[in-house]
Amino acid sequence: MSKIARTFARTFARTFASDNNSGVHPEVLTAIAAVNTGHQVAYGDDDVTRRLEARFREVFGSQTESFLAFGGTGANILGLMSVMRPFHAVICSEWAHIHVDECGGPEKLTGSKLLDVPAPLGKLTPESVDTQYHGIGDYHHVQPRVVAITQNTELGTVYTREEVQALADYAHERNMMLHMDGARIANAAAALGCSLRQATADCGVDVLTFGGTKNGLMGAEAVLFFGPEAEQRAADFKFLRKQHAQLASKMRFLAVQFEALLAENALPLNALALNALALNASESAPLWLRNASHANAMAQLLSQEVQKIPALKLAYPTEANGVFVVVPRHLIEPLQQRCFFYMWNEKQSIARWMCSWDTTEEDVQGFVAMVKELL
Ligand SMILES: Cc1ncc(COP(=O)(O)O)c(C=O)c1O
Repeated sequence: MSKIARTFARTFARTFASDNNSGVHPEVLTAIAAVNTGHQVAYGDDDVTRRLEARFREVFGSQTESFLAFGGTGANILGLMSVMRPFHAVICSEWAHIHVDECGGPEKLTGSKLLDVPAPLGKLTPESVDTQYHGIGDYHHVQPRVVAITQNTELGTVYTREEVQALADYAHERNMMLHMDGARIANAAAALGCSLRQATADCGVDVLTFGGTKNGLMGAEAVLFFGPEAEQRAADFKFLRKQHAQLASKMRFLAVQFEALLAENALPLNALALNALALNASESAPLWLRNASHANAMAQLLSQEVQKIPALKLAYPTEANGVFVVVPRHLIEPLQQRCFFYMWNEKQSIARWMCSWDTTEEDVQGFVAMVKELL
């Protein structure tokens, strides 16, 4: 076995391929086990789901309607579908997950067109959205109804709260809504140093996909509707969710995961988990914040190390838990063989290295050492 292979075997229990590749946080597993007693009514009419609905209102504001789903793609599609009719359109970035990574699901299932616009750093602006806002009232033309953003973006950048508010204002002034794909909203809020509510409802988001899976849950996402019209907009959600196969029967096991993520007083971590985590946020912070700020800190570390290597170049600024790097082509295959990751852009030779809640400093340093050896 070569030296490199030994390094790999010792160091890479975890890779940088995706924050979906990490396991489930021990506190979440404990919480799941804790509700695994007796019987509870199925399909969300249970005590845990009711408690979570109340908790979502505490966290995001009293005018919050919440629903759980299994997957992020399903949650995005259902959130959009709830507020649209087939002749409506969504204006989104050229990189939007709903546009490039959901196999056409949003268009097929909503029946509505996605209008994508260039977004050099993954972000929309009122000016870029405006390029697709036309044909209003013209029945030959789809009617823009939703502006959809992703926070943090697919390119690892983070919208400031002012940027989100500006898009919300633009949309609201034109009878449109702001949808946020928050698959990594926890990472974005941690990066912005604000609460989940300040990062979403308070800057004008109308519909949020609140991602849990990438932040340490086993597989749970939430769709949240905010504001005075939340109840009316969410009215059909429960029918659409069942029709589109996103209704969990044993809902309490999804609900309790979010409860664990949002709980103020974290359950005690066992010693093993504490060692593995090298926590960055205070131990009493809610789990969403501890996990997200830790993943962000590991990405910062990786990004700093990358910037010390002359052969590598950052493709985009590192603002959350993803590091996007222009990699010499000859490095890609040997590196992928030792520690798998996805190429974000083959043509431009951009690799995507994602950090997770469980990424350690040792993982980062081991990976960087291997890159240097291969170079
Ligand atoms: C930006 C973004 N949105 C949504 C999702 C949710 O996808 P999934 O359906 O795999 O949970 C992902 C997952 O990779 C993502 O990166």
